[in-house]
Amino acid sequence: MDTKYILIDNKNIDSALISEAGQIIRNGGLVAFPTETVYGLGADAANPDASRKIYAAKGRPSDNPLIVHICEFSQLEDIAEELPPVARELSDAFWPGPMTLIVKKNEKIPYETTGGLDTVAVRMPSDPIAAALIRASERLIAAPSANASGRPSPTRASHVKEDLDGKIDMIIDGGECGLGLESTIIDLSDEEPVILRPGCITPEMLNNVIGKVSLDKGLAPDSDTRPKAPGMKYRHYAPKGKLLIIEGNDMAVADKINSLVAGSKQVGRKAAVICTEETRGLYDSEHIYIIGRRSDESSIAHNLFAVLRKMDEDGFEDIYSESFSGAGVGTAIMNRLLKAAGHQIIEV
Ligand code: TXA
Ligand code: MG
Repeated sequence: MDTKYILIDNKNIDSALISEAGQIIRNGGLVAFPTETVYGLGADAANPDASRKIYAAKGRPSDNPLIVHICEFSQLEDIAEELPPVARELSDAFWPGPMTLIVKKNEKIPYETTGGLDTVAVRMPSDPIAAALIRASERLIAAPSANASGRPSPTRASHVKEDLDGKIDMIIDGGECGLGLESTIIDLSDEEPVILRPGCITPEMLNNVIGKVSLDKGLAPDSDTRPKAPGMKYRHYAPKGKLLIIEGNDMAVADKINSLVAGSKQVGRKAAVICTEETRGLYDSEHIYIIGRRSDESSIAHNLFAVLRKMDEDGFEDIYSESFSGAGVGTAIMNRLLKAAGHQIIEV
């Protein structure tokens, strides 16, 4: 299949191009589009065949449900079997934005879209291109991240092209995604709200609106229960190189990483370092990837997936990364990085 690649300026949206994309969705086709978190691979959420095409294009396991994207709160009411009052409170506080709510579904959303579950994940994105596309399609848009299964989520249209060119109808290039990490997922289908995937809407932000929210116990690496979001059980992404995270104070971490790099070199392995602007000067390696600024965690979130993709491209065999844990967005950053590292972390 020929994948049509179009550029849209999110400050001046070309309505003819958006209607063309909307038409593809109505006809059961696949369109990759930008959101404020990562690029999504969209299809008509109510059309089982269209949903199946998403799984085929990504090579995604069929038990891993899709997120349904909406542009009005009433669309959530329309597909939910039951809507707890907290849904409205969270929507008022964080939609449109990087938050996904899981609720019990009704018959309007087919099991092909929810991976066979009786619940559905729903998000109202704030990106103007995403919102315009949902409106123009006159449909609800099921969209997982627009990467091939097992690769880092795409934060630029070029990443989508790398993974899905020739497999989907259209790619809308709307520039780099602002946030760079997938949405925070909150399960509202049980008695108590539970965070199934950490993201840029932090536990603290949620606490301020609906009180204490717990984190799915299945997310802990040593947990013997499965994560409640089927997608979180997969080793999302493993870099081609061996990724190791080193945690501790800046100087100790840099010393350790410098000696690890030297060790890799001695045995003829190509090694690189992931660090921040603040700590860059502590390393002697010639292969350094600056992921962002410690003083601004959102810059790290913004660059994380792009850096991981770039390092794969550059063919490193050993990758040594600083740790970025902290409250707030740090939880989400470390959740993704630890998964990429297969939870290989050493404390110094
Ligand atoms: O920011 C985002 O959420 C992006 C953009 C495109 O909106 N989408 C995204 O989709 O990250 P995806 O498919 O890569 O991740 C969806 C996650 C998976 O871990 C999936 O298992 C979980 O949401 N999920 C979806 N529906 C669910 C449900 N009914 N119950 C539990 N988990 C669900
Ligand atoms: Mg994904």
